[in-house]
Amino acid sequence: MKKSALQKARAAYQPKLPIVLTGAVKAVEGKATNSVADQEDIKNLFPNTYGLPEIQFEKAASAGKTEPVNVGVILSGGQAPGGHNVISGLFDGIKKVHRDSRLYGFLMGPGGFVDHQYVELTAEIIDEYRNTGGFDIIGSGRTKLETKAQFDKGLEILKELNIKALVIIGGDDSNTNAAILAEYYKEINAGVQVIGCPKTIDGDLKNEVIETSFGFDTATKVYSEVIGNIQRDCNSSKKYWHFIKLMGRSASHIALECALQCQPNVCIISEEVEAKKQTLNDIVNSIADVVAARAANGNNFGTVLIPEGLIEFIPAMKALIAELNDLLAANAEEFAKVDRQNQLTWIAERLSDDNTAIFTSLPEGVARQLCLDRDPHGNVQVSLIETEKLLGEMVARRLNEMKSEGRYVGKFASLYHFFGYEGRCADPSNFDADYCYALGFNAACLINSGVTGYMSSVRGLTKPSVQWIAGGIPITMMMNMERRHGAMKPVIQKALVSLDGAPFKKFASKRDGWAINTDFVYPGPIQYFGPAEVCDQPSLTLQYEHR
Ligand code: FBP
Repeated sequence: MKKSALQKARAAYQPKLPIVLTGAVKAVEGKATNSVADQEDIKNLFPNTYGLPEIQFEKAASAGKTEPVNVGVILSGGQAPGGHNVISGLFDGIKKVHRDSRLYGFLMGPGGFVDHQYVELTAEIIDEYRNTGGFDIIGSGRTKLETKAQFDKGLEILKELNIKALVIIGGDDSNTNAAILAEYYKEINAGVQVIGCPKTIDGDLKNEVIETSFGFDTATKVYSEVIGNIQRDCNSSKKYWHFIKLMGRSASHIALECALQCQPNVCIISEEVEAKKQTLNDIVNSIADVVAARAANGNNFGTVLIPEGLIEFIPAMKALIAELNDLLAANAEEFAKVDRQNQLTWIAERLSDDNTAIFTSLPEGVARQLCLDRDPHGNVQVSLIETEKLLGEMVARRLNEMKSEGRYVGKFASLYHFFGYEGRCADPSNFDADYCYALGFNAACLINSGVTGYMSSVRGLTKPSVQWIAGGIPITMMMNMERRHGAMKPVIQKALVSLDGAPFKKFASKRDGWAINTDFVYPGPIQYFGPAEVCDQPSLTLQYEHR
């Protein structure tokens, strides 16, 4: 593989471990834990792993006698910067326990575990991937590990390779499944520990005890760099409104962090839209009002940030999508025979009055996306809906109306962007490089202390990395019961943007000024070498949440 100059220089970076993990450690147990809600249900579902204590590592006088341990690792779900450092930290951690320890990587996500596809990760392989972005060392996948048949099939390969612990690096769903797997292996006395690691750029796997998921820091810095560049372009030519959609399947943490960093004119927060029961028209009107107010000052340009998951948080759109799903599923054959030019009318005639009104108000392209792009289960694939274009086109329409009412004088030209994949495999920032390495190394310490059903936890993240606190959190502690596919299931609570949280409050206190003035901030590219205030700052979300 030909390497760039930065790649070569970056390979030499030695992530900074929390000081406590640099020598021998002992696991100090805290109080027994409870799940965040639905304690009785969760306790009944996890009789062997419920109520375990939190663990914090402290320095020990000596490591004592240790045995080699074979460990398996899985990357699950969407890529997030720093995954390779979790694996290199884990590798170094188990080698520190005993130099004959071995690490096996299951290929292309949980599917590789079930299908027995794996590679032994040697020092030579690991060294090629230190401090790099991506998950390509072993690949990732979205196969859900949830059935007993999968668990039993996976156990066969664990036994064959004498693997005593499995580390699952994933988001809320993958860690939920890690907890179920841990419980099952404990119940059948399989002799395999299961440890989770919090991953996702979306930033929605966090709580009292997990301060952030890895990858969020780097991804939002990459998006903020590009948004900043767009804002500078926009402020230079003063002729475009840029509608920028940002990844984040559900929660709006990414959009909010980018807004805090870049100070755009508008940023929509899905959780606020839902809480205020806003309609699509409410959102469009609020953007059009900002465009008109800026135009009144002679500023026919600006930026609008839109979270990817927005459409499902607009109550009326949610209802429309649900009715469309049912209508098209029940009438698939008849609909397939309708001419393309009559399809939208055919649907409009069959929807309830409320939904017909919304459906017919949508731009044709979006209305068609809602009807045609369906997944194998018959659901609309909301991520394919170009929300940025939908809003841009509806704002243009609204501005025309306002013009005829004499409420808007200006020019409106819009450009559209979607940032997601651009940031998911970026070289990890120093924060993510250190955090991920520490998470992996700490997972090795958890394995060495014999626990199962725990998530690797590194805390105190707004302090310098050497001062971070390391330990483990029982995954059941983060769970509650939620309805999934028609049945109540134990799941890790997804952390949506809290409207009472400090990051949102900060944004809300500033946004009116940012809307009218041109207060853009240009964060520039991630810096890996240089002064700490430029290179080592954690996300603003983390800073506001943990001040
Ligand atoms: P994870 O939750 O698995 O980390 O993935 C997050 C994400 O990047 C979302 O932001 C995005 O909606 C989705 O993955 C895209 O999925 P895919 O990689 O399958 O296109």
